[in-house]
Amino acid sequence: MLVNATEMLLKARDGHYGVPQFNINNLEWTKAVLTACEEMKSPVILGVSEGAGKYMTGYKTVAAMVKAMVESMGITVPVALHLDHGSYEGCMACIEAGFSSIMFDGSHYSIEENVAKTKELVELAHSKGMSIEAEVGSIGGVEDGVVGTGEIADPEECAKITALGIDFLAAGIGNIHGVYPANWKGLDFEALDRIHKATNNIPLVLHGGTGIPDEMIAKAISLGVSKININTECQLVFAEATRKYIEEGKDQQGKGFDPRKLLAPGAKAIEAKCKEKIELFGCAGKG
Ligand code: G3H
Ligand code: ZN
Repeated sequence: MLVNATEMLLKARDGHYGVPQFNINNLEWTKAVLTACEEMKSPVILGVSEGAGKYMTGYKTVAAMVKAMVESMGITVPVALHLDHGSYEGCMACIEAGFSSIMFDGSHYSIEENVAKTKELVELAHSKGMSIEAEVGSIGGVEDGVVGTGEIADPEECAKITALGIDFLAAGIGNIHGVYPANWKGLDFEALDRIHKATNNIPLVLHGGTGIPDEMIAKAISLGVSKININTECQLVFAEATRKYIEEGKDQQGKGFDPRKLLAPGAKAIEAKCKEKIELFGCAGKG
């Protein structure tokens, strides 16, 4: 059974650790993430971007697949199925499709419009027992077609959105989607501290988790971050392991054309990456 992400994130906030959001793209990806989290006894949020949702033929397919996998794999740790960087329409579709959590990314609207749309979705999501994340400021870089300016979030605007009753808040603090450029200045911890103080201890979300140095992750958690999103890093290790398998010529031995064998090294690499992140975020044994 899926759960919303509220309780797992309140526990993380109070216990000073981070819950991972790992984005998923297909069955193998989902299986690798769930296997790692069950083995590490970690709660998990499965993130689905709008692009990944389309790729998997729609949110209803994703919800049905994830629910069935949680059951048939005998998963005992809490699992939330969460729309990542959702539009208003995407949020409506996921509420309908049986997700347990949504993110409404209204960061590209004016604050007034972001507030109005978030308010409406908070009421709807909560009436269905779902959790909801909102975004203020902007995450830099590009992820799955979502382009961000990297604007640092304004604490007053964060307070306005938090007051609507959202369950967790994504705030731009210099974080970037994808691989960080060599001249990246790092996270803006002063901004994070101001946002944390202005938002009544709401669990904060750190997007763009790929490649953030370990000590910055630890500091972010100490300043109220309870959810850390990882996407690109799993894609990188999947691609590397798959390429290696093919380049080694194993798929010419009469075995490699079997998709179950071809995709296995990549899936194993995702599993290992998830375990590494779970250790780093301190959430092993918390599920
Ligand atoms: O929304 C998902 C993320 O923020 C993941 O970011 O691809 O940089 O790990 P990433
Ligand atoms: Zn993100």
